[in-house]
Formats: sequence, C-alpha cells, structure tokens
Amino acid sequence: MNCNKMTVRDIDVRGKRVLLRCDFNVPRDKTTNEITDDKRIRAAMPTIEYLLDNGAAVVACSHLGRPKGEWVPELSLAPVAERLSELLGKEVKMSKDVVGPDAHALAAALKPGEIMLLENLRYHKEETKNDPGFARELASMADVFVSDAFGTVHRAHASTAGVAAYLPAVAGFLVEKELRIIGGALEDPKRPFVAVLGGSKVSDKLGVISSLLEKADTLMIGGGMAYTFVKAMGGSIGTSLCEDDRLDYAREMVQKARDRGVKLMYSQDFLAAREFAPDAEASVVKGSIPDDMMGLDIGPETREAFCNEIRSAGTVIWNGPMGVFEFDKFAGGTRAVAEAMAESDAVTIIGGGDSAAAVEKFGLAGKMTHVSTGGGASLELIEGLELPGVACLMDKKV
Ligand code: 3PG
Repeated sequence: MNCNKMTVRDIDVRGKRVLLRCDFNVPRDKTTNEITDDKRIRAAMPTIEYLLDNGAAVVACSHLGRPKGEWVPELSLAPVAERLSELLGKEVKMSKDVVGPDAHALAAALKPGEIMLLENLRYHKEETKNDPGFARELASMADVFVSDAFGTVHRAHASTAGVAAYLPAVAGFLVEKELRIIGGALEDPKRPFVAVLGGSKVSDKLGVISSLLEKADTLMIGGGMAYTFVKAMGGSIGTSLCEDDRLDYAREMVQKARDRGVKLMYSQDFLAAREFAPDAEASVVKGSIPDDMMGLDIGPETREAFCNEIRSAGTVIWNGPMGVFEFDKFAGGTRAVAEAMAESDAVTIIGGGDSAAAVEKFGLAGKMTHVSTGGGASLELIEGLELPGVACLMDKKV
C-alpha cells in the first residue's frame, strides 16, 4: 500500500466545507456514560485547529460503539461534542441526525472557522455496509474529505472509504503521523528490531506474527497466546488459554523463525494460579504448569530475558499485554516490558488497544516515541495489509 498520501497541507481549504472523519470512539464509564479517556479527541485537535485556522468550515463525524443501525441514546456523540468544545474553546454544533434535515441545515449554515459534529454514523446500518447512497449523502455536505480516524482506517465503511468516491480525499495530521512512524519503523527500522506480541489469542495475530518474522530480528511472545506456542512445542500448560486448532500454525512459525534466523522467544516460566481472579494465589512455575493451574503472567526469568532484548534494541514495537494486567498481581510482566521500553533509547512504538491502555495505566505513555490511537488498524498496518481508509486517499505527487 502506498502510504505517501496528500494531506491537508497539500490542498487549499480556505472557504471550503470539509467532511472530517475522526475516531471519537472513546471509552466511557459504564454507569455514568462519562468519557473516561479523551486521548482520541485530543489526537484530532491538530487537524481540527489547522482546518479552522485556515478558514475551513468543518463537518466532523465519527462512530461510537457498535449500535448496528439502532438509535441507541447512550451512544450519542453529544458528550464528545461537549468535550471537543471545551478543548477548542469554541462552540461545536451538534446535529440531531446523521444525514437528515438537521445535519444538512447545520452544514449549509456553517461559516469558515466554525465546526459541527454529526450524530453517531453507526446509527445507520448503511455506514458499516459502505452503502454508496449513504456515502453520497455524507459527501453532499462538503467540498473535501479529510481522513483523520486512524483507529478506523482498517474498516471499509461509507465514512472511512466510500465518501472518497465523491470528494477529493486527503489525510489529516494524525493519519499522516501514524503512517509515518509505524510505516517508517517497518520499512527501515533502526536495528536490532524487536517486536513484542501478547494478548489472548494467536488467531487474532496470525498475519502479524508471520509478517514480523520477515522484518524483525527478535520476536517475543507473551500473554495468553504464548501458551499455544508452549504446548505446540511439547510443554504442559495446565488449564491455561490455548487454541488447539493453532498448534500447527505455531509450529510453522517456530520453523519460519529458524529458517529466517529470527530469534523467536516465548514464555519459559510463568506466574500461575488455580483460578482466574484478582486475589488468586500466585506461584512462579518453571517448565510444566500443573494440571490444575493456569498461567496468568510471564514469570521472572522470561521477564528479564524480554527486557534484556528491549534494552539492546534500536526499534521496539509492542502490541498486546504479557498477562492479565487488569489484575495488579498479574500485571508485573506487562509493567516490566513497559518500563524497559520507557527507559530505552530505542524508537518505541505501542500498537493501540490494551498495550496503549497499559502504558497509560502505568503513567509511561509520555516516555514512548509513539502510542498509536488504533489497535486493529495498527495491527493491520504492521501486517502489511491494505487499509481502505488510507488506500482511498489521493497519492502525493512525486
Ligand atoms: C476501535 O476502537 O478499534 C475503532 O474505533 C474501530 O472500532 P470497531 O472495531 O468497532 O470498528
């Protein structure tokens, strides 16, 4: 995929109405519905401020959650409009609908330097179906499309890709930055290039493991997915997470690493317990995990071995926690990896999702070169897949 795309700097936005796709899919408190982390809203600010300062009228849009075409009131973007307005220090008009009369009227009345936000795009099932009629409706409210929703560029939806058929389409600063940093690290990494993968399932990261084995010098696997590797290579894992239908795949990956001379490391010792609970009694297990126990974090030796690799790396990319970091007792491995990355002089990149949440939780996000705003999107970028929300943008003229 060509990542060299035109950006808002390459077009004249003055006097134009801009349809700006953001990823305002922010976490909210389950009971109060308050926004608990506004990082994604803040991440959109440079593009929004640039557009407003340069005389554009901005029709911002996003999804929130997965309402699947239903009008779910708790998934209204109104709290996002409020937060955005506080951050910008100016009014953000909120439309009552998405492509209905209110949205059209507000968009038509918008003056240069003003901004509005459409209601949740996924209140219409046509959005995720990439329905051309819906995309045309969205596009009809603007003269230009700006894609700045990095967290959603791996989706081929009406607002992420479909609208580009009807409007000149360029990238915003967030998309540009994510592509430059993650894409750059994969294309020409400062070596040694160390990749750390974790999370619960091998099946979520099949393509990424294989693709990293073609680029990295060292690939370290922790978290729930490591147990499938341990079992595949003849180890006993007790009641730990395991995908038996991926054992062959794990063996193939071990062989691929050997063939390519990549150092593939996975947990050799574990912090295990008899139950999955925050207060479960934890024991360090080396070698076989007893039949009635499950691994919930990497053990101290694995932790040290992983951190040593990170300390001597030129580039580190990390996606997925090393254990059940939501339970303090089993957060040690994830914390150790985060701390080693924070202390290292390497280019340090955190793929979004749980690893981003972990570095935030440990207060280490500011010490990384880059914390991605996209979990699924950064994984697909690392895997080398075409991202529909990027592919649809105009190529930069060379
Ligand atoms: C995310 O949070 O990963 C993005 O906003 C995409 O959301 P989705 O997985 O519901 O498409």
